[in-house]
Amino acid sequence: MPIERTLTIIKPDAFEARHVGDIIKILEANHFRIVAARLVRLSRREAEGFYKIHRAKPFFPSLTEFMSSGPALVMVLEGENAIARLREVMGATDPAKAAPETIRKLYASGIEHNAIHGSDAPQTAACEIGYFFPEVELI
Ligand code: CMP
Repeated sequence: MPIERTLTIIKPDAFEARHVGDIIKILEANHFRIVAARLVRLSRREAEGFYKIHRAKPFFPSLTEFMSSGPALVMVLEGENAIARLREVMGATDPAKAAPETIRKLYASGIEHNAIHGSDAPQTAACEIGYFFPEVELI
């Protein structure tokens, strides 16, 4: 399995509910290594830039409002097959469809307020890591 790097965001809902530690514990238990971290409060414009791929979606205004509503923890994670594996550990976007014990099943309250983001493919990971951590090496 290749060693990869991926971007994750512990979103404002999980931060506000004080689940940062719980989520990091799950990530570390699943053998992800944190190689960079930043506590951010995104501006609306930064949230729009990050999610620009979704700009035509009906949920874009509320998603970017939510993502800029409070602090969030952005991290680069490293591990074997990290991109696909993080998405498994996160669970489905909609927590109602997420597998038991996944982060979203445990901590998300809805399809939008879903606790955590993870890059969905190698190219997206490269782009998203560069958005927050231009200095971090992509492997
Ligand atoms: P994320 O994995 O960060 O990628 C895009 C985000 O948009 C997603 O998590 C959700 O927070 C949000 N999202 C996706 N689909 C919907 C939807 N149908 N309604 C509202 N928000 C959504």
